[in-house]
Amino acid sequence: MEDLESLKTQILQNIQAAADLKSLEEVKVAAMGKKGAVTEMMKGLGALAAEQRAEAGKKLNVLKNEIEQAISVRREVLEAEELNKKLATETVDITLPVRPEIQGRIHPVSKIYEEVVAIFGQMGFDVADGPDIEDQFHNFNALNMPPNHPARQMQDTFYLPHDANEPFDMDKSYVIRTHTSGMQIRTMESKKPPIRIIAPGRTYRSDYDATHTPMFHQVEGLVIDKTTTMAHLKGCLYDFVKAFFELDEIPVRYRPSYFPFTEPSAEMDIGCLKTKTELKVGAGNDWLEILGCGMVHPNVLKAGGIDPDEYQGFAFGVGLDRLAMLKYGIPDLRTFFESDVRWLKNYGFSPLDFSSMTGGLSNNGGLIR
Ligand code: PHE
Repeated sequence: MEDLESLKTQILQNIQAAADLKSLEEVKVAAMGKKGAVTEMMKGLGALAAEQRAEAGKKLNVLKNEIEQAISVRREVLEAEELNKKLATETVDITLPVRPEIQGRIHPVSKIYEEVVAIFGQMGFDVADGPDIEDQFHNFNALNMPPNHPARQMQDTFYLPHDANEPFDMDKSYVIRTHTSGMQIRTMESKKPPIRIIAPGRTYRSDYDATHTPMFHQVEGLVIDKTTTMAHLKGCLYDFVKAFFELDEIPVRYRPSYFPFTEPSAEMDIGCLKTKTELKVGAGNDWLEILGCGMVHPNVLKAGGIDPDEYQGFAFGVGLDRLAMLKYGIPDLRTFFESDVRWLKNYGFSPLDFSSMTGGLSNNGGLIR
C-alpha cells in the first residue's frame, strides 16, 4: 500500500504522456486490464487483515476513479487533436468536377433543335408550340385540303377515333399530325399580324426505312405582314442554311413544287458533293433537297381569320432529323430512336456546350467523339 502514491503518480504521468489514442489504450490496459497494476493490487486485498483490507479497498477504489477520470479527460484531448489534424490535411477541392467524366449526352435532335431556335431567334422569330394530336381542320382542311382532296394521299396519315365507343368515322377522326403546318393556322388564330414564328415539334407518318421513321421532327416557319414577298422567303432561308451549316457561302436553288397550302410553292436545294463514300454540304457536283416552302395560300390566310387582300406571307417546313443526319454525318434515321447508349455516346453532344449565334452553334468542340 505504500506503493500506492508512487503508482498513482506513475500512471497519471503515463496518461499525460500518451501521444495518441492507441498509447492511451495501452496505458489503460497496463493499469486496469486483467493483469494491470491496479487489478493486481485489488487481487492482493484478500491477503490483508480485515480492518486493513477495508481501508486499502477504499483507497484503491478512489485511485481507480481518479485514473478513469484522467483517462477520459486525456481521451477527449487526443480525439480533438486527431480531428484537427485530419481537417488540416484532408482538404476537399470543391472546384473539381463531380465525376472524372461527363456521363450524359445531348441527343442530336435536341442539339439541332437548339441550333435552329438560336438562328431564327436571332432573326426575331418566336417559338410556337402545339399539340401532337391534331384535328383534321388544323392538319388538313384549313390548309386548303378539304376531305377527299388528292393531296391528303401525299401523307401516310395515322388516324385516331374521335370517340372510342363509336364506330370509326374518317371525317370526324383525329390525326397525329403529319406535319407542323397546322401550327400556321393555330398561330393565325391566336396572334395578329405581323407574325414571325417557328414551330418545332414531333410529326408522324406511316413510313419506315433508312431515311423515314414513323415519328420524326419538323420545324414550321411562318411570316405574315403587309409587304412580305418571296424575296424575303429566299433571303431568310438562305441566311438560315448558311448559319446552320456554318458556311460563309453555300449554293442554293429553288425548284417549283406543289403544296396545297402555298402558292407558289418551292423546294429548296443546297449544293453538295456526293461520292460513293462521302456526302459533303457546301459545294460540289450535286443538289440535296432540304425543305419545302412557298407563299401562304390566300385560302389558308382566310381559314386563319386573316384578310388575304391586306396581308401576305411565306411559310416553310424543314425536317429536323434530316438536318441532323446531314450536318453530323449520321447515315440511318432509325438509329436516332433506338435508345442505344453506345450510339448516343458516339453521336451525342456535351451537355455543357450550349448553341448560340455569338458563342458558336455546334462549336465542333461540342462533338464528343
Ligand atoms: N408541310 C410540308 C411537308 O410536310 C412542308 C411545307 C411547310 C411546305 C410549309 C410549304 C410550306 O412536307
